Amino acid sequence: MTRMGTARTVPHHIAIVMDGNGRWATKRFLPRVAGHKKGLDALRACVRHCGDLGVKVLTVFAFSSENWNRPADEVSGLMELLAAALSREVPQLQAEGVRIHFVGDRSALSDKVRTGLAQAEALTAGNHRLVFNVCFNYGGRWDMTQAAAQLAARGEAITELSLSRAMALAHVPDPDLIIRTGGELRMSNFLLWQAAYSELYFSDKLWPEFDAAAIDKAIADYGRRERRFGRTSDQVAPTAPRTTRKAA
Ligand code: IPE
Ligand code: IPE
Ligand code: MG
Repeated sequence: MTRMGTARTVPHHIAIVMDGNGRWATKRFLPRVAGHKKGLDALRACVRHCGDLGVKVLTVFAFSSENWNRPADEVSGLMELLAAALSREVPQLQAEGVRIHFVGDRSALSDKVRTGLAQAEALTAGNHRLVFNVCFNYGGRWDMTQAAAQLAARGEAITELSLSRAMALAHVPDPDLIIRTGGELRMSNFLLWQAAYSELYFSDKLWPEFDAAAIDKAIADYGRRERRFGRTSDQVAPTAPRTTRKAA
């Protein structure tokens, strides 16, 4: 979906690299998993705020393909947090009209967690207020590879359209705004294909501190961007007041 010209005030689709949980905890002499728990609180508030603002799609990076390389106790802590969140958070999402999707390779997850993901998706499937994609065991390279493998298995030609349709985020338009908290200026294998024309916003705030005011600030910044999609400024804002042009 292309929307040219000055960015809409509220992005249709916001994607977030929720980074900085570990540092938030370490600064407080707490175990890293305590930071992830606090990060879940921030995520709950973020989902609510985005829904209230009229954002239609929220996609978050919760666990990357590469995060398996972390210490075993942190990985198991994150798996337990996902399992606990499934039972605790889903009823509230349902009440708020949020449709949840899990995006990523589920084959490495336990049967119990896989069943929980499918149940949460089925329970919220009729909701339309906000689509909430949780990228878990996700990587942009994994997604492109699995999409190409699907096409190859079906003997389909590889085109931009066929590849897009086989990707794990085919059910939503590309993100308008990608936010990364925690001060790092990189994508870390997040939406590599879908980020082609997303506006990027980086914040030094650690994810557990990224509150409603911080989201508003990111959206205000986005609202000042001019999205050109390869065109010139004159082409995308032809009606902008100019001294050389007569008013119609
Ligand atoms: C992001 O926070 C959450 C996950 C990767 C699961 P981090 O755990 O990467 O936090 P920092 O970057 O170490 O502070
Ligand atoms: C990206 O953060 C992954 C998630 C937020 C889930 P990382 O903390 O894993 O990224 P790097 O390792 O600093 O690039
Ligand atoms: Mg990190």
